[in-house]
Order: sequence, then C-alpha cells, then structure tokens
Amino acid sequence: MSRGKAKPLLRALAGEALTPPPWWLMRQAGRYLPEYRAVRARAHDFVELCLTPALAAELTLQPVRRYGMDAAILFSDILMLPHAFGQGLTFREGKGPLLEPIGDQTSIARLDLSRMIPRLEPVFEAVRRVAEALDPQTTLIGFAGSPWTVATYMVEGGTSREFRQVKSWAYRDVQGFDALIDLLVEGTVEFLAAQMAAGAEVVQLFDSWAGILPEPAFGRWVIEPTKRIIVALKRRFPDHPVIGFPRGAGVLCERYIVETGVDGVGLDPMIPLGYARARLQPLATIQGNLDPVLLMTGGAALETAVNELCRTLSGGPYIFNLGHGVLPDTPPENVEVLASLLAGPNANT
Ligand code: CP3
Repeated sequence: MSRGKAKPLLRALAGEALTPPPWWLMRQAGRYLPEYRAVRARAHDFVELCLTPALAAELTLQPVRRYGMDAAILFSDILMLPHAFGQGLTFREGKGPLLEPIGDQTSIARLDLSRMIPRLEPVFEAVRRVAEALDPQTTLIGFAGSPWTVATYMVEGGTSREFRQVKSWAYRDVQGFDALIDLLVEGTVEFLAAQMAAGAEVVQLFDSWAGILPEPAFGRWVIEPTKRIIVALKRRFPDHPVIGFPRGAGVLCERYIVETGVDGVGLDPMIPLGYARARLQPLATIQGNLDPVLLMTGGAALETAVNELCRTLSGGPYIFNLGHGVLPDTPPENVEVLASLLAGPNANT
C-alpha cells in the first residue's frame, strides 16, 4: 500500500466505506472566515490574491488549521483559466466576476493557449507550498471548472440568469461552439496535469451550470468534454482520482458517472439520498450534499440533516461535503459544530 493510500479521502475515492466519512467543504476558504477577510482586506484584488503563492497557500490552509478537514482545496478560481488565456477578468465587490465576453471565431482566435501555463505558474507554486505544509493525513485537492461552465462565464461575460448568449451560440453554431469547448478541454487538461505534477493528489471538476442543458446538449457539452479530460489525465496520472460536480444534473448523474469515468461525484442538495444510495453509489464514490443554508442555519436542523446523510450514505464509499459552496454568512462556529457531529457517535447510527 502506498503511503498516500492511508489518507481517508483517498481511501474513500478508492471505493472504501469509512465511518466516520472523510469530509471537506466546497468554498471552505472564504469570506465566512475572519482570517480570510483579514488577508483579503490587505490584498487589493481577488485575481492578484489567487496569483500570489504565499497568500493562496495561506488561504488554502486556513480552514484546515481551524477545523481539521480531511482535505485542503487549493485557493484559486475556475476563472483563472480564461484569465490565463488572455481574457480580461475582474471581480467587483458584491457583483461577482466580469469578463470581456467572447462570442465568435475571431474572439476565440485571440485566446492564447501557449501563454497559459507560464501565466499560471504562481498557482502551481501555491500547490507546491501547500503540499509541503500539509500533515500526512490530509489530501490536497486541485481543481478547474468544466469546459461548459467556464464557457458560460466566458460568453456571458459573468454570472447569468438565463444563459441566452451561450446557449444560443451553442444551439445555432454547433461546430463553432465546439471550437471553444475543444480549446477549454485542452487547456483544462494542461492546467490539471500541472497541478498534479506540483502535488495535487485529487482534482475536482466544477460543473456548476451542468444542470441548465437538456439531454442531447448535456451529452455533448457536459459529458463528452469531461470524459476527454479524464481520459487524458488518466493517461498521465493513472492513480490520481477525479471528482466531477455536475450541479443540477438530476437523473442525468447516472449517465454522467458511467460515461465520464469519474471516480467520485459531487451531488447538489436536490438529489434525494435514497436515489443516491441505490443508483449512484454502486457506480462511484458519492460526495455531498448538505444544503449550505443548513450549515448557515445550524441548530437542530443541521444535526438532523447531517445524521441522516451519514446514516444513508456511510454504508458505501462516501465523502461528506455540502451540495454547493459555504455561504459567506455562515457562522464559523457552525462549521465547528459540523466537525464534531461528523466525529461523534451519532454520525454512525
Ligand atoms: O472551495 C474553495 O475554498 C477553493 C476556492 C474556490 C473559489 N472559487 C474561491 C472564490 C473554488 C473551488 C471556486 C470555484 C468557483 N468559482 C466556481 C465553481 C463552484 C461554484 O460556486 O459554483 C465558480 C462558478 C466560480 C466563479 C466565481 N468566483 C464567482 C461566480 C464568484 C463570485 C461569487 C462569490 O462567491 O463571490 C467568485 C469569487 C470567489 N471565488 C470568491 C472566492 C473565495 C470570493 C471572492 C471575494 O473574496 O470577494
């Protein structure tokens, strides 16, 4: 057995059922933590924060130091990839990301894959620093956005409600839109492989907007690109597990798991636990899916939901997580409560 396999998160991803389950939280570093806000206040701009290795490493370690999660997730952002392609990116306080929208072949042609890896070097340096600092039981997770989700931001120019631009481009001009997806597949493989080379032991693909596509399009722009990324990564790093997070995919989760070859699947809060146990857990390690609002709310509702999750899913390979990221208004002490619920005897009953 390799030394790394002793880590609980890696054991769960290799198919072991562990009690209590290993845990980490999407967006475990962030504004709910006073120590994050302190660093953020000093560092001028979010993109700069992500590209300053000492700060990105420090922010990655903050939640793990406080709560002892089984994994640290690299502090970065899925939009660092388009940024490294040369697409202008800024984050406005309270408004989220803003990108210079792209919408045709000419704007795709301006994106430059060759400069991407050197521009992302500070991210890989942050990975190396965190890998060095972590204790031997804690797993380092790298990540990227999935091509579809990153494309939504690149085409809409930021967060969207209806995704009219990106969907209408994809529906109208299948080949043209495929060219953007192909570029993102290639870039994502290089980005994740470089994270692995620097010390990321697992990677997660965030497909936050997987759930807005009807089935044929879901197959083409969610499943196919994800599968190509995983095939390419497994060729280079056969032992590094990949977790996919197809938020909102509903019953399409089954196809997603089977066809992409993910080792683990992150589930959003709307996936019923009985369905997850019966239909999905035999296919992959399950990760999720506590409603982030329950973590924010705390109290008896949190305790009931955590126990229910663990009771239903701990019989098979399972990683406890939220169904989406930690909300900024979450009281830090609720995460402390969660940590003790997961370690306590009730988690196992
Ligand atoms: O999970 C972690 O702790 C690691 C860091 C991480 C961030 N973003 C830091 C961040 C991860 C894994 C992400 C992923 C990400 N980024 C996703 C996929 C997951 C999801 O939430 O659906 C998406 C869609 C993005 C794009 C993005 N980044 C948006 C839409 C926003 C604005 C909304 C917001 O929460 O502020 C961001 C900013 C962002 N990314 C922050 C953090 C800590 C907040 C920046 C700040 O301090 O102002």
